[in-house]
Amino acid sequence: MKFIVDPGGSLSGTIRVPGDKSMSHRTVMLGALANGTTKASGFLEGQDALCTVQAFKDMGVTIRGPIDGYIEIDGVGLHGLKAPEAVLDMGNSGTSIRLLSGLMAPQAFDTTMTGDVSLQKRPMGRVTVPLEQMGAVIESDGGKPPLRIKGSQRLKGIHYEMPIASAQVKSCVLLAGLYAEGRTSLIEPAPTRDHTERMLRGFGYDVDCENDVISIQGGGSLQATTLDIPADISSAAFFLVAATISKGSDVTLEHVGMNPTRSGVITILTLMGANIDVFNEREVGGEPVADLRVRSAALTGIVIPEELVPLAIDEFPVLFVAAACASGRTVLSGAEELRVKESDRIASMAEGLTRLGIETEVFEDGIIIAGGEMTGGQVDTFHDHRIAMSFAVAALRATGAIQINDCDHVATSFPGFASLARRVGFDIVEAFD
Ligand code: S3P
Repeated sequence: MKFIVDPGGSLSGTIRVPGDKSMSHRTVMLGALANGTTKASGFLEGQDALCTVQAFKDMGVTIRGPIDGYIEIDGVGLHGLKAPEAVLDMGNSGTSIRLLSGLMAPQAFDTTMTGDVSLQKRPMGRVTVPLEQMGAVIESDGGKPPLRIKGSQRLKGIHYEMPIASAQVKSCVLLAGLYAEGRTSLIEPAPTRDHTERMLRGFGYDVDCENDVISIQGGGSLQATTLDIPADISSAAFFLVAATISKGSDVTLEHVGMNPTRSGVITILTLMGANIDVFNEREVGGEPVADLRVRSAALTGIVIPEELVPLAIDEFPVLFVAAACASGRTVLSGAEELRVKESDRIASMAEGLTRLGIETEVFEDGIIIAGGEMTGGQVDTFHDHRIAMSFAVAALRATGAIQINDCDHVATSFPGFASLARRVGFDIVEAFD
């Protein structure tokens, strides 16, 4: 499927983007391992979260839904999973395979997990190294999936100083720590999204965060709960940039998750001159939530503060589009992690922006983007959902239509993107080959 997006137009309306992907994954994982039935609304019906749902169904967990964002999970307790009959297919989802590695390593049965072409290229050493220190036995294909995890290993708590800022690694180690003998603790090089810590507490499990050390005691239990998952700020980000760069726009995004470990995109856009009102701030199920009103604004290029990188890690593709529409240069460094996402996001965006006439200079850990006029043209997504949606946003300010090839992966995180985009004023069609 391709997107063909015509330029121009102003955006308006009030929308709620789909539920948070990180929280949807964790809801299924913790719900499956809890005692009792967990009920959640706002669940993301994207392919990534559905891979996690399928994996737990394959391990004997009864899950009803998701239907219209509502899901119920009959927890089997920490020791109630059954051996899956086949390989667990995690599709495109790095979060599923990395977090589940932590949960599979202490099980009584062997598990093999794999994924699609993109996932099979992504590094897994970052989770297998700490898990092996805990006593897990894992075989991989040179540090890449498939991962073959040997069951019946007794894990012990470790203290792990994480070499990279990654919430997936942190979460993997904490989830393994639920089963480990003794205490598992870790230190992050920089704060990353803390949904696992918050949600574990929501399921009644104590997680300590003291002097930058996050720790958990093995051997407890999880109690089922009821959750309302907010809209995903990473999906909202496309509309934040879209309304900012298209003239005469005024869009309100409702019920957006505003966890401070995720809201770097708002800080960065505001530093560039965006006009974003955060209102109706409230707390929903242990997570901050707000409504966001965004109106058109002229942007100026900035040097992005490095400490904001982990807090906006998934939003850089669309922030690069904002940079292309800004006056002057935007400089990003300290972002080498972008090279190991669903695609190499520095290379994918640089290639597409160059095709549209924008000057970029690429480094191993970042990029410089010179704001300028974007032409129409054809771009590739490299099987990456966020690259596809970012170029759909770019088309609003291009001088001609943009054809975005290979957009099927948009459904991994944002089912219904094109129709929601049309609703606020995008001129976007989905063309099937
Ligand atoms: C995620 C963490 C991030 C993010 C990914 C989801 C999570 O990855 O890019 O989309 O849910 O924990 P890293 O932790 O590898 O940076």
